[in-house]
Amino acid sequence: MQTFATAADLIAARKPEHPVRGLRPHASGRAARWFLDRFDGDVAYAYKANSSVFLIGALYGAGIRHFDVASLPEIEDAATIPDAELHFMHPVKSRSAIRRAYALGVRSFSLDSEDELDKTIAETTFEGKEAKDLKLFVRLTVPSINSRIPLEHKFGITGKPATDLLRKCRLIASELGITFHVGSQTSTPEAFVVALDEVQKLIVNAGVVIDRLDIGGGFPSRYGDEEPSSMDAFMDTIDQCIEKLPVPENVRLMCEPGRALVSEAESLIVRVDARRDGGLYINDGAYGMLFDAAHLGFVFPTRLVSRPVPPGTPTKEFEFWGPTCDSIDQMKGPFLLPDIVDEGDYIEIGNVGAYGRAIAGHFNGYGQYDEVILLDEPMLSMYDADGDKVVVDSGQS
Ligand SMILES: Cc1ncc(COP(=O)(O)O)c(C=O)c1O
Repeated sequence: MQTFATAADLIAARKPEHPVRGLRPHASGRAARWFLDRFDGDVAYAYKANSSVFLIGALYGAGIRHFDVASLPEIEDAATIPDAELHFMHPVKSRSAIRRAYALGVRSFSLDSEDELDKTIAETTFEGKEAKDLKLFVRLTVPSINSRIPLEHKFGITGKPATDLLRKCRLIASELGITFHVGSQTSTPEAFVVALDEVQKLIVNAGVVIDRLDIGGGFPSRYGDEEPSSMDAFMDTIDQCIEKLPVPENVRLMCEPGRALVSEAESLIVRVDARRDGGLYINDGAYGMLFDAAHLGFVFPTRLVSRPVPPGTPTKEFEFWGPTCDSIDQMKGPFLLPDIVDEGDYIEIGNVGAYGRAIAGHFNGYGQYDEVILLDEPMLSMYDADGDKVVVDSGQS
């Protein structure tokens, strides 16, 4: 794969026909180091967010050895990573997936119902002997206070059924845990205060000792339209809440960041094929790397990279239209760009590393990307070398 200092250097060297994924593995490495330094437990990367070997390599190089996996194909992939410990944290799994995961060495399973517990026991019982090495995590329902993608409606258990399930799991598990997810792209730590309060109630009501606590993912990235709290603020709040929980001092903690580890590590470089009023027709979109911009209203940072912007050029708000014929293929933004942008220009769309690549499909000509390594800094960042929140670049040239 070719390496360029910046997206502008790439465009100066070639005029790519396909959209380009500009990878910044160093950004993933930095994010992983921040989590490993600051979080007092296992940092399990949520594999689904982006499984590019370049990013997995950077995460691994930084020291990540735990992976949150949610499907059998992910497990088959991640099981090839040396010394990796996989945690199957999808609360609803097929019987065959449980069986195969166990055969591949997976011992951590999350669940939110007695049916799932029965399935897990049945599929890990061999020659009449139940597994004695299961790490079972009860997935607790917690409210989504301020996340962009709430996860509380699909999975989770609460109230008396949760206390009953936790007690049952205690009898079977070699290690018992509680897990939750506050929702993806959570903007303030308040969500963790509420969630950990729910954990406290569950432990007290069930009257059991837990060995593990998994606080899930949900940590934010920076986009063009919102200023999340700093990562330090998240971790300080989480530390304070965990301090108050009725758990043993040696309780083993885990977190499962996806977005926060890879979002900054990938840009998308697109060509403008037409400009019409406030709309730019570009060569990727809703069915490609920009699903979140089309369907969830994400406003990624943008900059013009095909020519210098003369000083004093006004900035304008644009919406994007993707390359298919249908009108779902629209990203409303608004995306800020210099008012000179026109047909034939190239734009860098930053911080698309979380879920963009993973979701991109093949509809109507989609799915062909070039790939390069970029050496410069992400357009917006939550991290700097000292771990503080930092604005690396305003994103507007
Ligand atoms: C169980 C679980 N863990 C972790 C994650 C990663 O979340 P995020 O990317 O918001 O950190 C997800 C995302 O859906 C998830 O479902």
